[in-house]
Amino acid sequence: MTVSDPLINRVIGGCRVVSLLGAGAMGRVYRAVQESLDREVALKVLPKELASDVEFITRFLREAKAIAQVSNPNIVQVFDAGLDEDAKSYYIMMELVRGRSLDRYIEEGRQFSFGEIYSIMGQCAFGLAAAHRAGIIHRDIKPANVMLGEDLIVKIADFGLAKTAKRKIADPTAGSGKITAEALQKLRAELTDAGAIVGTPAYMSPEQCLGHQADARSDLYSLGATFYYLVGGRPPFSDPDPLRVIYQHLNDAPTPLDYWRSGVPAGIKEIVKTLLAKHPALRYRSCEDLYEDVQLAAAGRAILGIKRYSSQGAAKKPKSMPRLPAAKSDPRLAATPPAEAGRGAPAEVPREISKAILAAIIVVVVLMILSCAGVTLYIVTKAGGKTTGDAAGAGTGKSPPAHVRCAWG
Ligand SMILES: Nc1ncnc2c1ncn2[C@@H]1O[C@H](COP(=O)(O)OP(=O)(O)OP(=O)(O)O)[C@@H](O)[C@H]1O
Ligand SMILES: [Mg+2]
Repeated sequence: MTVSDPLINRVIGGCRVVSLLGAGAMGRVYRAVQESLDREVALKVLPKELASDVEFITRFLREAKAIAQVSNPNIVQVFDAGLDEDAKSYYIMMELVRGRSLDRYIEEGRQFSFGEIYSIMGQCAFGLAAAHRAGIIHRDIKPANVMLGEDLIVKIADFGLAKTAKRKIADPTAGSGKITAEALQKLRAELTDAGAIVGTPAYMSPEQCLGHQADARSDLYSLGATFYYLVGGRPPFSDPDPLRVIYQHLNDAPTPLDYWRSGVPAGIKEIVKTLLAKHPALRYRSCEDLYEDVQLAAAGRAILGIKRYSSQGAAKKPKSMPRLPAAKSDPRLAATPPAEAGRGAPAEVPREISKAILAAIIVVVVLMILSCAGVTLYIVTKAGGKTTGDAAGAGTGKSPPAHVRCAWG
């Protein structure tokens, strides 16, 4: 393919370029031969325009150096990175993966078995854990950056290549949890400005959507979105309007995976749900913890997800959650996406139901406490007038009167 590509047959970074493997937002990837060692490699050549972006290049070289120190079977190994003076382009020379990226497999119609999915999940967690331990945040985990060899060995690519926004995207809630129509308008303008954001927001974490710094837990959210895609064949939120996708990352629950595929094991659903928690504090705290849950779930054992962090088995809800305003403040956001229009909006229904159940439980508990207090008052009033003998019997293993037992059911 692309015989006309000007880089074919040229030597860049000591590698003779053989053929184009693919192209993305950050340049083109070629199959090449490293001449000194006569071995096949993948060579990513960054667009020339980036050479003048000093901040990006500095970080790119620093992170290439850092990731080159990490040796992990699930991370694409980086051999070299630098500037090719003749081509006037920066390049990154890396291990050639004989396989395809996850999105290519899915686009070609491949449906991975749940066993394979557990294996992919475990390998992703294992590879990403090694990077995080070395202090490297990927920032752009998505199916296109997770390669899968023919042998189903996962190789995570493109560490440190994500280009952050040139300008920090303003938090439209300005930390108050509320947003004005003007702020929303400004956000849309920023998102449609080509320089502000790179790529689709389909796999971005809510905090990245708000222009905050990405950390390890942000990578975990993106990994959750990638797993969702792997199981359901589509990202958790997709819409041609990037603002709507961002709105959904911040506010909506994704359509349950059961809707897209039947028989999804509870373990997979719990893992994806934990990874896709809106607030970073409600996700797994590390890839190691995720890895542990994947192993347990794959072995058919029950997992706690986020509840593993609480001795009571219940996750503590953080105080503030990033939220955008109710959909009615922006008619475009209120529109039901076509894919879901004919099928209802399954994700929203359980949330409403659970609120109603919670309210009902609270009412019942309050009524029980009140009736109990009434019964106790009645006994005390009656017994108080008679004798202290009943009170003495209270800790001696005697059964309470029948009507008291009835009060508790
Ligand atoms: N190390 C590699 N070995 C083999 N093929 C690779 C390698 N890295 C990338 N590719 C191929 O090149 C294609 C383009 O990769 P590239 O990273 O440029 O784009 P992308 O991942 O789709 O988007 P982005 O620029 O956002 O990362 C990939 O889809 C993959 O098929
Ligand atoms: Mg890539």
